[in-house]
Amino acid sequence: MPLGIENILVTGGAGFIGSYIVDLLIDEDYNVIIFDNLEPQVHGSKQPLPKYLNTTAQFRKNDMRVKEDLVETISEVDVIFHQAAAVGVGQSMYQVSKYIHSNTLGTANLLDVLVNKDHNVKKLVVASSMSIYGEGRYICEDCGSVSPDLRSIEQMKKKEWELRCPKCDKTAAPAPTDEDKPLNPTSIYAMSKRHQEEMCLLIGKTYGIPTIALRYFNVYGPRQALSNPYTGVVAIFSSRILNGNQPILYEDGNMKRDFIHVKDIARANLLALKSNNADYRTYNIGTGTYITIKDLAKRILGIYNSELSPIISDEFRIGDVRHCYADISLAKKYLGFTPKIKLTEGLKGLLQWVSGLDKEQIVDKFDTAEAELEKKGLKV
Ligand SMILES: NC(=O)c1ccc[n+]([C@@H]2O[C@H](COP(=O)([O-])OP(=O)(O)OC[C@H]3O[C@@H](n4cnc5c(N)ncnc54)[C@H](O)[C@@H]3O)[C@@H](O)[C@H]2O)c1
Ligand SMILES: [Zn+2]
Repeated sequence: MPLGIENILVTGGAGFIGSYIVDLLIDEDYNVIIFDNLEPQVHGSKQPLPKYLNTTAQFRKNDMRVKEDLVETISEVDVIFHQAAAVGVGQSMYQVSKYIHSNTLGTANLLDVLVNKDHNVKKLVVASSMSIYGEGRYICEDCGSVSPDLRSIEQMKKKEWELRCPKCDKTAAPAPTDEDKPLNPTSIYAMSKRHQEEMCLLIGKTYGIPTIALRYFNVYGPRQALSNPYTGVVAIFSSRILNGNQPILYEDGNMKRDFIHVKDIARANLLALKSNNADYRTYNIGTGTYITIKDLAKRILGIYNSELSPIISDEFRIGDVRHCYADISLAKKYLGFTPKIKLTEGLKGLLQWVSGLDKEQIVDKFDTAEAELEKKGLKV
């Protein structure tokens, strides 16, 4: 336990990722306070405390949007892991103010308290997201490393899915995305994650509060809300398969992503807490490898022993990124982070967890979410 650190606040600690950070902290004998409003979309309309919630932690049902709620809690802690956020890329494009309120304003409230009230906070670790990159890094065989903008709707309508070099228009090949890739958030959710990251780092640097931002890639694992159709693709595919529905792939299914197990994410957070030469920077937290969404669907079907096959829809969502996977050299160097859980092993663990769930926890709401996107013209 680093000197002078006993009491730790995890905002969003009742959520998927936050709850694993809480467990690791409790294992290491920290006193943990969870600050979470039990968002109905994640926890269900009756907002029960999740069964997995660590009972050794102190739970406070509070909302980031209410500054007064934060004052007392922050005065009691030495470290803050800020995980609370409204999470949903597509949904943020038609619930703009909700996302800005929970994420941008919620973080602004936290920072206002840090700046204006007495406290002992010695470290702030904020959850950021790969979504702030927009498209990943690419290599053009003539021009070298490039960072193309999103594909145009015209290009996507022609089903030309791969990216072109912004300089010479040749097809460009995906490469690992490093932290210096220019940011290009393509949803309100991504913008709000950028706000969270940049605001925390700016206030941290200005006031000498050691701050670290972790840009998570695609996180999967037990406890992810399977009935929330706005979260990760692993959860979405799982709930479809378990309801006897085929997983649906956008475009041709060959999009590359970097899936990291939630326990590796939690470990990266603990490393951030214990690091002493990593402050005031942002780190990619992924595996550094990729899988296509099509192969992911096949792998999940295999693990579930399902006869179903994925549907390649040839449709696309406006704002979708073609390829993005992490370069994790910085996290390796400064945090000593290396991912431990292999995808197949992680997916098997997920299946075990899913088989113990109640039926209402795995309702497949994918079609409703799709219909919403279509109605808003966000899917073509
Ligand atoms: N899951 C991923 O793949 C992924 C990827 C990149 C970044 N992230 C980031 O990681 C963090 C945790 O995400 P998650 O996947 O665990 O999501 P989650 O929805 O399971 O957890 C978020 C938690 O925050 C709480 N919350 C939401 N709004 C709140 C508010 N206004 N006040 C208090 N609590 C609030 C929710 O009730 C929930 O328990 C988020 O900041 C998210 O942006 C997640
Ligand atoms: Zn080129």
